Amino acid sequence: MAQLLSLSRAAQLIGVTRGDLQKKIRDGELAAYDGLVDGADLQRVYPALRLEESGAFERVAQIKEQAFSRRMRERLLPSQEVLAQRLFAQGQELDSLRRHLARYHDLVVALREKIDGRARAAPAGLAAPLRELGGMLDDGLAAVLGSQETLDTVAVMDDMLRVMTAQVTLRPSGHEFFVEGSETILEAALHAGLAPAYGCGNGNCGLCKARVVAGETRQIRNTDYPLSEAERAQNYRLLCAHTAVSDLVIEMVEAQSPADIPEQQIVARVRSAAALDAETMLLHLQTPRSNRLRFLAGQNVTLGYAGGGIDFRGDYPVASCPCDDRNLLFHITRADAESGDGFAARLFAGAVHPGDPVNVWGPFGDFVLRPERGLPLAFLCCDAGFAPVRSLVEHALSLDGFPEIAVYWAATRPGGQYLANQCRAWAEALDHFSYRALDATDGADAGRQAAAALMAAGQATADAGIYIAGGHAFAEAAQRMLLAAGVPSGRVVAAVL
Ligand code: FES
Repeated sequence: MAQLLSLSRAAQLIGVTRGDLQKKIRDGELAAYDGLVDGADLQRVYPALRLEESGAFERVAQIKEQAFSRRMRERLLPSQEVLAQRLFAQGQELDSLRRHLARYHDLVVALREKIDGRARAAPAGLAAPLRELGGMLDDGLAAVLGSQETLDTVAVMDDMLRVMTAQVTLRPSGHEFFVEGSETILEAALHAGLAPAYGCGNGNCGLCKARVVAGETRQIRNTDYPLSEAERAQNYRLLCAHTAVSDLVIEMVEAQSPADIPEQQIVARVRSAAALDAETMLLHLQTPRSNRLRFLAGQNVTLGYAGGGIDFRGDYPVASCPCDDRNLLFHITRADAESGDGFAARLFAGAVHPGDPVNVWGPFGDFVLRPERGLPLAFLCCDAGFAPVRSLVEHALSLDGFPEIAVYWAATRPGGQYLANQCRAWAEALDHFSYRALDATDGADAGRQAAAALMAAGQATADAGIYIAGGHAFAEAAQRMLLAAGVPSGRVVAAVL
């Protein structure tokens, strides 16, 4: 019987991205049936998966060991209760299969006896074909019972992963993600780059409640928010307080655009403020556990610092991913400080310290990823325009649905790519990620160089989503050149910083 797997599960199983699988499906190398792929087909396309006689169990054991040790390191092992419930569910499945097999066996034995009885009582002309039929049954049984079939690698690994993780499918979007270890369903959705509705993240506001259509959950965090009788009867759960015990189907409201994200005001604390280079500071803020910032990658916030009766403020793009909504990163430049930005001036004056409270208002801005999974992405940035790009790249990597991601980072001063190591690490770790640093004389030169490099690499295709972030001269020059070369204007999104 064919073993059909969702794309997410298959990608997790093989250790490739969903984008890789989607490309193989588009190229006709892998067949898909209603969004599912066949396990045997996967083994054909990824032969390394095949359990040959030698090393088969070692490979499974190695994968299992790596999975366990990694999760142990990251403290992501599911709780004992969840593991026990998942193993119990698999035990029930096995028991059901075992009982089916026993019934088939009894049926075959009864049939064999019946044939023997009929053959003994039959006239000579009929006895011979009946004995022949009995012989065929014996041979068939001997072949089945004596066969040394190779283990189905996909089935073995899928069973193992089903104990370690649970898959969640959302309605109506069809988005899929995995709940690992002791994550709540809300945390897992955010880690997967999705934008679920939520508020406090701490069981108080009720904004994360959603209806579980299928599957089993378990409460792992305390809550103060009372669900009504009717909500409980309809299987509503607070996603910030429950984990998945089995694979789930959930009806969940997801933000489709910046308009769906409410404006918030939060008091965060400074974790650290450190120089990335002579011109750029990395500011790390942490929000309270019960009051996180909900935002989309690429959006801005206003930061305010009260001191000496004056409110020092500035607007900045968030440079971190919404998948970690408690830790907010910002790249703040000396140029910001020199242009009259009070918050940046205070930061560069060394007057912002760990533990200081900072007001965060927002988010705002629509420099966000369009919902176009399956298409390539290109990011062009100049100087600190890398800040929103970093957030978008991390978000795109979490979503795991883009076949190609390219970053072109132009700097208007020598060595101005202050996080080049980060980009090189992505490029080394990910086959579908490429990075190029460009040195320019000014913003306009940077824009022309970035656009020219993108086109020369053949990445300014009609279906690519192109995101441009930097100063006015940079964004204008890059946009003008791309549009003049025939790139559709609807494919280009720019943020002027
Ligand atoms: S996010 Fe507030 S109760 Fe879950």
